[in-house]
Amino acid sequence: MTQKITAAITAIDAYLPPDKLTNFDLEKMVDTTDEWIRSRTGVIERRILKTPGLASSDMAAEAVKNLLEKKNIDPLSIEVVICATVTPDMVFPATANILSDKAGLKNAWGFDLSAACSGFLFGLQTGAALIESGRYKKVLVVGVDKMSSIIDYTDRNTCIIFGDGCGVVLLEPNYEGLGIIDCILKSDGAGRKHLHQKAGGSLKPASIETVTNKEHFVYQEGQPVFKAAVKGMADVSYEIMQRNHLTSDDVQWLVPHQANLRIIDATRERMGLPEEKVMVNIQRYGNTTAATIPLCMFDYESQLHKGDNIILASFGGGYTWGAIWVKWAY
Ligand code: UT7
Repeated sequence: MTQKITAAITAIDAYLPPDKLTNFDLEKMVDTTDEWIRSRTGVIERRILKTPGLASSDMAAEAVKNLLEKKNIDPLSIEVVICATVTPDMVFPATANILSDKAGLKNAWGFDLSAACSGFLFGLQTGAALIESGRYKKVLVVGVDKMSSIIDYTDRNTCIIFGDGCGVVLLEPNYEGLGIIDCILKSDGAGRKHLHQKAGGSLKPASIETVTNKEHFVYQEGQPVFKAAVKGMADVSYEIMQRNHLTSDDVQWLVPHQANLRIIDATRERMGLPEEKVMVNIQRYGNTTAATIPLCMFDYESQLHKGDNIILASFGGGYTWGAIWVKWAY
């Protein structure tokens, strides 16, 4: 009988740019206050990639190099790179290609995956399927966004939540039943009207008008997105517990997308989890879109134990949302 292969996360690393943008800095830029931002979102500061000439691939290359060095893994052994991002270096080639060049992943093929805040979860499921097929043994899943490149720092509705950063995990085959166990992913394109970038794609290529009208920035109607996120993320997290007969005692960690502390709290309550079982770092990094979930796991790595049941959950632009049940492998 052939052994069942699962895809396990066997390493995790990250890169955060050094420059901080605090709520107090934002008070000087737009009509807002530290108190408003803290109480409405939970964010206190975020990181911004300020150095001219650096892009998403540079953050990703640093994160990947950190991971490979830490685990003493030969860059030439990496077979696939999936790069989840909505802020690619350029429309083409893919950031995965540029990152592979910068990190010396000479034997890997790869591609970018666009699913906004759910990009990392969509990437994780895709990477897991490649491992489970038996055809690949080392797949990197990267979540990276340089949100500062598409944020209007005169728009107080959006500039207060977003930040820049990158997280990466290595997926390898596991034969002990650890790793990615179950997954529910969803999308509803009708949600695009509330959260999108108006210009720069084939619908509305860049022009003097699109730049003048600030159409290359994130457009977000906060309230409808908030409502949909509270419902979507909580529903799917609850559903994955229900269908796997997991109680709140069985779950060691919830790793939620870090968009707003109030959305995180709603999900936690629906799952019946106490606060100490929820990974939160929104106060330091804000919403880094595809990077939030791996950045959280990286921050909490030392508290994870082999066999822990972890629920990853996200909601974001698209709309896209989902939950993944992971059994931690080390
Ligand atoms: O990760 C991708 C998916 N994105 C999300 O999940 C984000 C979801 N949305 C949100 O997190 C929240 O909607 C925001 C943080 C964006 C906004 O918070 P809110 O509690 O929904 O605020 P609101 O838009 O309902 O505005 C409430 C009030 C308004 O004033 P009035 O009309 O009540 O007088 C706004 O003008 O707060 C005002 N306001 C602000 N005041 C100070 C809006 N932004 C700010 C601000 N500082 N930055």
